[in-house]
Amino acid sequence: MADTPKPVTTHDLLHMKAQGKRIVVLTCYDALFARLLDAAGVDILLVGDSVNQVLAGAETTLSATLDQMLYHTKIVRRGTQRAMVVCDMPFLTYQVSPAEAVRNCGRVMAETDCHGVKLEGGRSIAGTVRALVDVGIPVMGHLGLTPQSVHALGGYRVQGRDEPTAERLKDDARALEEAGAFAIVLELIPAPLASQISKALTIPTIGVGAGPACDGQVLVLHDMLGLNDRFTAKFVKRYAALGEEVREAVRLYAAEVREGRYPGPEHSFPK
Ligand code: KIV
Repeated sequence: MADTPKPVTTHDLLHMKAQGKRIVVLTCYDALFARLLDAAGVDILLVGDSVNQVLAGAETTLSATLDQMLYHTKIVRRGTQRAMVVCDMPFLTYQVSPAEAVRNCGRVMAETDCHGVKLEGGRSIAGTVRALVDVGIPVMGHLGLTPQSVHALGGYRVQGRDEPTAERLKDDARALEEAGAFAIVLELIPAPLASQISKALTIPTIGVGAGPACDGQVLVLHDMLGLNDRFTAKFVKRYAALGEEVREAVRLYAAEVREGRYPGPEHSFPK
């Protein structure tokens, strides 16, 4: 019988960065995909609050709830053996006060058995990151295009193209590292800026639309599988066209049911 694989830890991620080994991250929202991604060797499964858009059909991540994230993180964790599972904390569950953040993130850790949480923001939430790390909760940061601030940022656009914003992002990254974050997602920032931030930090950066120099990459699973044709972006590479395959399979099933060709004798019980 095969041994149960050793789960990926925050220490492993630091070693991977030090050794120049790229970290593979995908979003995941359920146990079925979690089993597939875990078996394929994905290092981190991020239960993104993008679940609110991808599966629940909302326009933004802002209305994602703690209950929603608890549910999805719990079922993703059921499907993993090796991958680290990180829960994206929804809007207003960590911004009000460090004490509220500890309570909400603590619930996520205790009730889902996940390995860490992700928060959006830089220096302004560094005190909260420190409070979480101090009670033993591993924190992943998220800088650049932070989707919970989409309205304040004026839409889904590349961040850090101008010098003051680029400098602020570098300072935010340093503040998160100093506060004890174990990794930082860099979303939609110019590749040279992501490269500078990655080189300046000892913790790994995980890029999404941030070029090739990050220490790892993350994509929304349903985008890279071609399952979500409501979303296209320059940085998303489609590795499969599963949406088209699903439509084709369902068209064939519908035709066979209507024509009386399914079920055949091989799918029926004679007695
Ligand atoms: O919610 C999400 O899916 C994310 C990733 C794209 C980083 O935050």
